Amino acid sequence: MPPLLERLGVELPVVQAGMGGGLSRHELAAAVSAAGGLGTIAVNGADSIRRELAAARALTEKPVAVNLLLPFARRDWFGAAAEADVVVTFWGKPRRQTPGAWLHQCGSVEEARETHAAGADGVIVQGVEAGGHVRGTTPALELLEKARAALPAGYPLFLGGGIAERADVKAALAAGATAAVAGTRFLLSEESRAHALYKERLLAAKETLLTDLFGAGWPAPHRVVPNAATESGRRRGSRLLNRLLAPGARYTPRPCNCG
Ligand SMILES: Cc1cc2nc3c(=O)[nH]c(=O)nc-3n(C[C@H](O)[C@H](O)[C@H](O)COP(=O)(O)O)c2cc1C
Repeated sequence: MPPLLERLGVELPVVQAGMGGGLSRHELAAAVSAAGGLGTIAVNGADSIRRELAAARALTEKPVAVNLLLPFARRDWFGAAAEADVVVTFWGKPRRQTPGAWLHQCGSVEEARETHAAGADGVIVQGVEAGGHVRGTTPALELLEKARAALPAGYPLFLGGGIAERADVKAALAAGATAAVAGTRFLLSEESRAHALYKERLLAAKETLLTDLFGAGWPAPHRVVPNAATESGRRRGSRLLNRLLAPGARYTPRPCNCG
């Protein structure tokens, strides 16, 4: 077992990615952790983080992670997240905000280098195959290889993007990943809070696409299952629709200006 996983008490090299929008809460994180992997809670607000973490702790004694999006996280959210066994951050300048184990998800070698320099315990390389917000522009295995060449030997690199089956995990490990990180696959599980129709649409999907239609002014492409909105966005230009939807961004939490 890789030293970092051993130190954390994680028995299996599988990490459930944090999924916002209320999808990955304590039930999912605790189920993954109890099974030997590392489950991740992704909720907004210090009180919600504390509540979800306590609920997960009531279900399992195994390590649990909390995920935070750097552009939105406020100082007190980090305080609450620091009680988790691992903090996983994404999107933004990597910077240590909590004293314990910290992973940052990266979409490029430059970002991985910056994350290593910022003192993270490991990097999650996110391939362009990933679901949700996608920072990666390179296929996951290719990015892993490039990041491995750019960082010191033995530095923990996790691989996310397109991990759905045992064979995917094996391929990631064979390529030198410390562990495989899966989001979409766990979204389909009973313990995720995804709506049953959402799961049905995902299971029936034949393809996915990247769009910035749902960014609400945030320039962050999503990988989604095509639907009527993305079809209309494709015809009208999703950038324009994104800009038109930008006033919605005022209803998302304010960016972090912590220290
Ligand atoms: C529905 C959904 C929501 C996501 N939300 C977040 C999030 O809130 N924070 C985060 O760090 N990553 C988020 N991600 C991205 C994951 O961290 C990870 O990169 C991705 O799920 C890996 O690709 P996969 O879905 O093919 O397994 C999300 C992914 C999905 C599918």
